Amino acid sequence: MGAAKVYIETYGCQMNEYDSEIVRRVLTGNGYDFTDTPEDADIIFLNTCAVRANAQRKVLQRIDLFKKLKGRKQGLLIGVLGCVAQNLKTELFNSGIGVDVVAGPDSYRTLPELLRRVQETKETRCATTLSVEETYSDLFPAQQSGKVNAWVAVMRGCDNFCSFCVVPYTRGRERCRAPDNIIEEITALAAKGYKQVTLLGQNVNSYKYEGFTFAQLISAVSRIEGIRRIRFTSPHPKDFPDDLLEVVADNDKVCKHIHLPLQSGNTRILQMMNRTYSKEEYLALAHRMRERIGNLALTTDIIVGFPTETREEYEDTLDVMRQVEFDAAFMFKYSERAGTAAAQKYPDDISAAEKTDRITRLVDLQRSISLERNQRHLNETYDVLVEGTARKPDQLRGRNDENKIVVFPDNGAQAGDFVNVRIEEVTPNTLIGVAVQPVT
Ligand code: 5AD
Ligand code: SF4
Repeated sequence: MGAAKVYIETYGCQMNEYDSEIVRRVLTGNGYDFTDTPEDADIIFLNTCAVRANAQRKVLQRIDLFKKLKGRKQGLLIGVLGCVAQNLKTELFNSGIGVDVVAGPDSYRTLPELLRRVQETKETRCATTLSVEETYSDLFPAQQSGKVNAWVAVMRGCDNFCSFCVVPYTRGRERCRAPDNIIEEITALAAKGYKQVTLLGQNVNSYKYEGFTFAQLISAVSRIEGIRRIRFTSPHPKDFPDDLLEVVADNDKVCKHIHLPLQSGNTRILQMMNRTYSKEEYLALAHRMRERIGNLALTTDIIVGFPTETREEYEDTLDVMRQVEFDAAFMFKYSERAGTAAAQKYPDDISAAEKTDRITRLVDLQRSISLERNQRHLNETYDVLVEGTARKPDQLRGRNDENKIVVFPDNGAQAGDFVNVRIEEVTPNTLIGVAVQPVT
């Protein structure tokens, strides 16, 4: 009999994509093979997201679908990884769900042992102990798409406890990797041909290692030969000291794009959310960023319908959107997550219809702002890092420094090439142009 085959499906954030590679590393090192087809697999893993109820629901539906394969393949195992695993733990073994293995984000090293035990004993196994130190720093998992961008986790976990958010419970406490170890991983990626690196963390700009700051880490990464672009996600507004703004502004390799989650534009709601800044402080920070960093793209995350949010308070969110003029925004309806402070303290009292109404108006406003911001790019020329073919096959797709998607007629460039593109047309989400000349 050949090696057991594993199929893994990933949901949610980039950290989960990164973690799926960790799982791949761990299992490949223990004699497992991987397959892209669930029907061929002996073990099906879902690496899951619990941030909103919908994401969790989707996972449960997907498990139900895979369960049907069990009837056709004896011994097929279904495993749940990631935040839903950590959140629901042994509840996932409840009758009828069909899950055999549960492993949370800090338990991936135990997977070979868990699988062996399940196969031997035919009993379910759950590993959800959170660690204060696990960073998988020896595994160097970044491999990912097409050698263009590599995601590299520099820290894991979150200590902020925003009242709506389940992440501090599913991913545990903040911990940072040693700078030398990060530099070693990125140097190896550059040698493999990666041009861009995105530093990842639930709270990436809280990075600190024995006095070594996030700004210093970015500078160190920028000195790695072959790395031409550096991005980072997701930061928290509370951790933007001057040295960080400086390195974004003055270091040519650092992309002029900051994702700055707002969540709400109203100070009372922000307080209830435990976000630690007021409307005015957020506005001042966004203003300082735009002033200090030329051609900066600012993007954000927003939640509407947080408990007790009045129409007037919601208007503050629209007001901040108008004042900051975000280049893009991810917008969500508040979703109550069991175990969070908000779920314990505040009833989810804004109706579904009201949340829909609020988000619709927000999306409409953001669309018009995004279009307006993109119109400023007309007739400008940008270095575009090519990612591959666009939806239309005779077109290529890449991103400019500001992380905006740029589409242009195929000029023979390959993924990982830089091409100079002049913008001739824009939509709220895309810049459309023509290649002026290949850069490198
Ligand atoms: N309900 C709605 N949105 C949420 N987010 C996190 N938790 C919730 C929740 N309970 C959003 C936040 C965060 C993004 C990743 O997901 O906006 O920044
Ligand atoms: Fe969740 Fe807030 Fe931590 Fe982000 S900073 S992961 S929203 S608790």
